[in-house]
Amino acid sequence: MFDFDYLIKKLTDACFASYPFKHIYIEDFFSSEHFEQLLASEEIASPKANSDDELIDGLYAKGYKVIDFPGCVTDRRKYVAWHSEGRNEPFHSACEGFGMVLRLYSIQSPILVAINEFIASERFNRAIAEKFDIDFEQCITDGGIQKYLDGYEISPHPDIRRKAATFMININPSPLSESLNHHTHYLRLTKKREYVKSFWEGNVDIDRAWVPWDWAETVHQQKKNNSIVLFSPSNETFHGVKADYEHLKTQRTQLYGNVWYKKGHTTSKLEWEDMDLLSRKTTSYSSQPTNPIRSMIASTIPSSVKTFIKRAYRKTDVDADKGMDLGERKTR
Ligand SMILES: [Fe+2]
Repeated sequence: MFDFDYLIKKLTDACFASYPFKHIYIEDFFSSEHFEQLLASEEIASPKANSDDELIDGLYAKGYKVIDFPGCVTDRRKYVAWHSEGRNEPFHSACEGFGMVLRLYSIQSPILVAINEFIASERFNRAIAEKFDIDFEQCITDGGIQKYLDGYEISPHPDIRRKAATFMININPSPLSESLNHHTHYLRLTKKREYVKSFWEGNVDIDRAWVPWDWAETVHQQKKNNSIVLFSPSNETFHGVKADYEHLKTQRTQLYGNVWYKKGHTTSKLEWEDMDLLSRKTTSYSSQPTNPIRSMIASTIPSSVKTFIKRAYRKTDVDADKGMDLGERKTR
């Protein structure tokens, strides 16, 4: 009944963009006929709601369920209380807020049934893998239709190493969606924080982490409805979301999916606090005369970047030589 194979052709034919990192961006991804039908479906439209509880009940009635998702809570009462009481507690130390994400599980509209099957299909996900030179036989996939409530925040991060590829398609029901503040940012590290990328490059067994917003700068926001972004996570694929909008009338809505390596190869992860070479703040190791984690990070940084950091560090009025432990670069 619905043929979406033209989407595979668009993906296969697309050129890569290289800034701020290698990715694919396509506008008008679905045909206008398909996109209109998609937006007209009952499950994409906002439920009538005058409160957070009515909104969540309305989304449940449409077939959505709260899911465990990065930057989000799954406890409905905790979310509603936080949202009504001044949003005073973050979920993650690099963020100011948290959100709740719901995925559509019970689908009635024929076009959404077909789209949901298509984005889960081997032929679509294999096409993504081939486009990014990923061995699809080593991968599994997941995806779906999701709504993200107000407060949803995931600070800049490149994605963990086990994620092989990811895609996001904006399917927002409001004709005003492009003017709302809930869109994905695509970013690059600031000059002072480029050492983080060097550190991850030199330590492939350590997983990548979220960093504070001021460690990166936004290059582009994916605001266009019916646009898709795809990329294969690397040490520079920084993206983030900080949703601040009135969600009772309309909700940030996406078709979202990932290709995952079946096996991960990391042995540990360092959070941003332990990678913060420019801060006076204490970490679990900072009371030691020589901070072993900072020394390890510093040992992976190219000398040109070290010189830059030392200058920036002096500007922050901290003793550069004492605080930074800038050793020699590790070769691996
Ligand atoms: Fe991500």
